[in-house]
Amino acid sequence: MSQWLDNAIFYEIYPQSFKDTDGDGIGNINGITEKLDYIKSVGCNAIWLNPCFESPFGDAGYDVSDYYRVAPRYGTNEDLKRLFEEVHKRDMHILLDLVPGHTSVEHKWFKESMKAEKNEFTDRYVWTDSIWEEPEGMGCIRGISDRDGSCAVNFFSHQPALNYGFYKPDPQKKWQQGTEDKGPLSTLNELINIMRFWLGMGCDGFRVDMAGSLVKNDADGKGTIKLWQKVRSFLDREFPDAAMVSEWGEPDKSLQGGFHMDFLLHFGPSHYNDLFRCEEPFFSSRGKGDVSEFVKKYTENYEKSERKGLICIPSGNHDMDRLSRSLHGDELKIAFAFLLTMPGAPFIYYGDEIGMNYVENLTSVEGGYNRTGSRSPMQWDKSLNAGFSTAAPEKLYIPLDGSSNRPDAASQLADKSSLLNEIKRLIVIRQSHKALQSKGEIEFVFAEKNSYPLAYIRSSENERLLIVINPSSEKKTFNFSADLKQKIYSFGGEILSDGGVITAEPSCAAIYALSGSYS
Ligand code: GLC
Repeated sequence: MSQWLDNAIFYEIYPQSFKDTDGDGIGNINGITEKLDYIKSVGCNAIWLNPCFESPFGDAGYDVSDYYRVAPRYGTNEDLKRLFEEVHKRDMHILLDLVPGHTSVEHKWFKESMKAEKNEFTDRYVWTDSIWEEPEGMGCIRGISDRDGSCAVNFFSHQPALNYGFYKPDPQKKWQQGTEDKGPLSTLNELINIMRFWLGMGCDGFRVDMAGSLVKNDADGKGTIKLWQKVRSFLDREFPDAAMVSEWGEPDKSLQGGFHMDFLLHFGPSHYNDLFRCEEPFFSSRGKGDVSEFVKKYTENYEKSERKGLICIPSGNHDMDRLSRSLHGDELKIAFAFLLTMPGAPFIYYGDEIGMNYVENLTSVEGGYNRTGSRSPMQWDKSLNAGFSTAAPEKLYIPLDGSSNRPDAASQLADKSSLLNEIKRLIVIRQSHKALQSKGEIEFVFAEKNSYPLAYIRSSENERLLIVINPSSEKKTFNFSADLKQKIYSFGGEILSDGGVITAEPSCAAIYALSGSYS
């Protein structure tokens, strides 16, 4: 069942910024199809496609107005179907982005739901039964409907919350429905119909947006877990091979809900930002970072999720600053040596493989705000608009990185020492060692407070690999006695093992096969 996840390496595509084939200044589905060979050549064998459905684009498509239709600016359902087929021809897989928690205010369900007369969509969203009562702690839409009530929102105030019920409805608040009430059950039924529609057309599964927040007043996630279990039994019955990856950030819960993998997120208690995006990131060569809290939290989650490869660490995504805003040059290569040797499926955000910049000082586009700088058009080559589009540069829906030395894929492919080629090397190594893939075990052997390097062992039935990561510009040592059998990979320097001490050269990353025991 979805065994392909065991060695999946994902490439995240933000469709509006990837490749424009019709010259309107915005990316489209056929552009993605055209670039599949590139994605495959990087070594990625799976794709997560950000929302591509009809939407007024107040939140870049996370405000869906028709779940069954590709946004005309991206093409047609037929184009998407053809993309699925081309992906499969290349032995690759593709996940669509499912946004189950909210719609756009423009969705026809919401328009019906706003009406004063009862209809089949009256209970599709979370409404109070008086305009003067707000749904506590949720934010709301009020005063734009004939219906006397306020509607809870999930994210921006134009994203009304779909009604999956309350875990424990407050008996004083008659408008709070239970998860087994008719309205919530019909919302869930519709969600299943949407999944059935796209899986039937050939997609391989979903990345699920805000998966942990569907049932309301559900602090421990019990109601939401139960809801996903129902989805899981639908999938087991009809699409047993479908893969499910959650934006939840609590792998023990998402696992119970039947997800295969969960993301390590840049918010909440994960300490992910300690590594890449803070004042002194661990991966900076200044060597003033701290990896220990991250490792502590990661290990906790790893134990809770039965030591399975369920936690996916992304290089970045459309919601956070580009990696290269805080890391540069060799630091990026060393960060990728880490990302590509951890359990779970690695996710590479489009353009991170060439170190694309965060474009500073952009005006917000389509609800991006500070995220807009991480969503600029992909830089393919040195031709007009970096090969993204043939439109006049001022027509591009987000401006390109204007810096004179902006990286591009073609130049990096031609340069042996580029970030892109280093990533390709690392991926080949990952794919030829089961121990490095999603389900290989991990054991941290050195991850001390305010210290370098970071070292861990990945293992499978017949192999144990020691990975040592030293981003700092100084030589570092730690006590560990092991027999280094064979070098599998090194970047920036070597690792020496001598009398129970391992020494790592400045700014280096290395993978060694171990023989015998270690301590
Ligand atoms: C997720 C998406 C983000 C979106 C939000 C609301 O966090 O990744 O881009 O704005 O959900 O749907």
